[in-house]
Amino acid sequence: MTGITAYVNGRFLPLGEAAVGIEDRGYQFGDGIYEVVRVYGGTPFKMREHLDRLRRSARAIELDLPDLDRLTEDALELLKRNGLRECSLYIQVTRGVCPRKHTVPRGIAPTVVMTAREVAGFPAEYRSRGVKLITVPDDRWARCYIKTTNLLPNVLARSKAERAGAYEAVFVRDGFVMECSSSNLFIVESGALVTPPLTNYILAGVTRATVIQLAEELGIEVREEAVSLERLYRSDEVFVTGTVTEIVPAVDIDGTTVGTGKPGPVFSLLYRGYTGLTAGAGDA
Ligand code: PDD
Repeated sequence: MTGITAYVNGRFLPLGEAAVGIEDRGYQFGDGIYEVVRVYGGTPFKMREHLDRLRRSARAIELDLPDLDRLTEDALELLKRNGLRECSLYIQVTRGVCPRKHTVPRGIAPTVVMTAREVAGFPAEYRSRGVKLITVPDDRWARCYIKTTNLLPNVLARSKAERAGAYEAVFVRDGFVMECSSSNLFIVESGALVTPPLTNYILAGVTRATVIQLAEELGIEVREEAVSLERLYRSDEVFVTGTVTEIVPAVDIDGTTVGTGKPGPVFSLLYRGYTGLTAGAGDA
């Protein structure tokens, strides 16, 4: 056995014994929501923001969440039992188990699952040299603000990126870039930071919000506005943000070189600021 402890509905179990019923609606319908939280020095980073988003996702799919204070306590216990201080924490809440039917069942208990895993460190050159991105048509549904476990379009897009030797796939809808398969997207134009606005077509990334705040504190102009594909190709810098990704600069998009072909100064400034924040997370 792996020695990893998982969490299912209030119980701490060896990973191999942790299971949910085959009629769980998460399994049958993708009827569930989730969060991924990065843990630094034993402390979940931006936990409140992640739980706020979990609440928004739950509301959007008419799911009654269990007590989130208890969930947080259990999450800390899970980290302790796994002896993890630098890791990612996965929290998933599905509608629960009941005989298959399409309508939302009432009166069943949600299924809560949590796992904590060591974060596989990125190769250092991802940040020192930058990564490649590809663009793909955004064939997802119109409620991308919900962090649902329905990730098939994201899985297929990310796999296409991997086959192309790229780090991420950028979803493009009607000629405008939205976000990536599991990260948000920023560009830099003449020193200003630009990112697509929060609409139903993108996830309100916790890292995105942190980066915007950091940029404002550093006196960098921030604009949330629509970014066309042409604009993406012509920008001075591009980077993607996410809980596990943190900030990763892109130097090639669909074979077009971004800016100088090297990670840019705005990325470097923001990444330095970000690591400052996460290094202090354990003090919070
Ligand atoms: N993904 N957009 C999408 C579609 C995402 O799935 C994610 C996160 C983000 C970035 O959000 P945040 O900064 O809050 O992590 C944007 C997580 C990490 C995942 O699915 O593993």
